[in-house]
Amino acid sequence: MNDSIERILFTEEEIKEATAKVASEISRDYKDAEGTTVLLCILKGSLVFCSDLMRKLDFPTELEFMKVSSYGSGTISSGQLNITLDISRKDLSDINIIIVEDIIDTGITLSRIHDMLVKRGAKSVKTVALLNNPARRGTPYEPDYSGLFMPNEFVVGYGLDYNEKFRDLPYIGVLKPEIYKR
Ligand code: PRP
Repeated sequence: MNDSIERILFTEEEIKEATAKVASEISRDYKDAEGTTVLLCILKGSLVFCSDLMRKLDFPTELEFMKVSSYGSGTISSGQLNITLDISRKDLSDINIIIVEDIIDTGITLSRIHDMLVKRGAKSVKTVALLNNPARRGTPYEPDYSGLFMPNEFVVGYGLDYNEKFRDLPYIGVLKPEIYKR
């Protein structure tokens, strides 16, 4: 295990099972959907989850990316949302969008992106988060699909970072407090 990790919260196997569970729920709901279904991967943290999820869905999807920033360099949310990379297509009227997130904390990011895509005229917009941290919720927003509910701890790995590090860990672990408090 990485020296900076206090303990593993979710193993590779648990992540795989949770991904299969949400993939099966999404596949059930979208198998007869009309139009094009696009997975919208919110960079950077969702890259790993999105990559695994798309290969578990049993219907065809297309892929788009958006990069937003609601956090500074530390662990506290600033509450701001800045779009630094936008979706590449303009006409969304025939597009079912599934926003793919690694984690929902306050809910600010998902709820704002959801509302923005609805305003832009998407055919439908749903959201999936691998990790759901309900204790941090500052808005009444809940994703349509949640993989794993987690305790209110600072976690890294499987795409999630602290100051850009630890995204490459194959598991999700609790960071040792001395790493982010020093
Ligand atoms: C994380 C995560 C979500 C957001 C969730 O992204 O990937 O996008 O925070 O927080 P919220 O529910 O409080 O809005 P982050 O800004 O850390 O960027 P990154 O994915 O590039 O690491």
